[in-house]
Amino acid sequence: MPEQKKLLKALAGESQKVPPVWIMRQAGRYLPEYRATRATAGGFLDLCYNPDFATEVTLQPIRRFGFDAAILFADILLLPQALGMKLWFETGEGPRLEPVTNLTEIQNLKPVEDIHEVLSPIYETVKHLSAELPAETTLIGFAGAPWTVATYMVAGRGTPDQGPARRLMYQDTAAFQVLIDLVTEATIEYLARQVEAGAEVVKLFDSWAGALGGSMLEQYALKPAVKIATALKKRYPALKFIGFPRGVGGSYEKFADAGVFDGLALDTSVPAEWARDNLQNKVAVQGNLDPMLMVAGGDALVSETRRLLDILGGGPYIFNLGHGITPDGKPENVEKLLNVIRG
Ligand code: CP3
Repeated sequence: MPEQKKLLKALAGESQKVPPVWIMRQAGRYLPEYRATRATAGGFLDLCYNPDFATEVTLQPIRRFGFDAAILFADILLLPQALGMKLWFETGEGPRLEPVTNLTEIQNLKPVEDIHEVLSPIYETVKHLSAELPAETTLIGFAGAPWTVATYMVAGRGTPDQGPARRLMYQDTAAFQVLIDLVTEATIEYLARQVEAGAEVVKLFDSWAGALGGSMLEQYALKPAVKIATALKKRYPALKFIGFPRGVGGSYEKFADAGVFDGLALDTSVPAEWARDNLQNKVAVQGNLDPMLMVAGGDALVSETRRLLDILGGGPYIFNLGHGITPDGKPENVEKLLNVIRG
């Protein structure tokens, strides 16, 4: 019987002498081979929707660095597109959607059962990956959390403060709840298909959870995440689930206490000692090296990496960055990081 994969062991609560490691946005513009494949494909969305190209770019960082996990190459905004919204990427700026701003527009989105028509190439990519990955590499599927996805659907683009979605949430609570419920149900079905195609772990990216104040965090970040994790685990009892409620500070503890997350990804601001003392006895933790160290490198990269290993290495731990690697990250610094972790 082959030994269990390192990432799955960590998510089952095991501590390991050398923790598993992968990095957010590990397939991306910091890699010359990614830029070459993207140029061949035409654009970012052409990459996402072509299973051959998407498989290729997912595998690139695995070949180059031997990470313990591969994350499906796709984007959290494909789901709104599958719900009928127009999506495009402005080069050098970021995503654009034709926004939904009231109940009528929200009700005009497609029903959940229609999403697979657009998303079937993504399931095909997961199938290819499941067949092609090395035996020791875990395959992670993902989706955006309903709140974070809704911030883009309502604003039509990234915003500094998620203002449009926060305003709608207070001013037309009923309409906003319809939107959150729709995205929640669609996310369950989207992730279920990823699991059926071979994803062993799913991660829910709530990149803008930190913008939710007061009781809103519970209503729009915690509740939907628990609903999604619970529904999926009921269907697939072996599935492991990682939450990433980025920026929620002390409320990370509420997520750990919810009892449905096997792992929580920590953003850069979470103190490692606090995570060890308050989270790691309940969930595996993942993170949270400053992505700037992939640009800067040097002695700080070594000492900050060792520091995380010292503090978090005694419990269930997955090494990662606190957010995605940036396009100016240097592959040689990723190499250096792996040498420090693996010795
Ligand atoms: O991590 C991986 O390697 C897997 C693929 C992945 C992408 N996006 C590819 C991508 C994942 C997991 C995501 C998630 C995602 N997408 C999030 C949540 C995680 C986070 O970073 O907080 C968000 C908020 C998005 C939405 C999104 N996609 C934005 C705001 C942008 C533009 C910003 C940017 O970096 O250009 C994207 C584009 C995007 N998604 C790229 C990649 C590799 C860059 C596209 C390119 O090649 O130009």
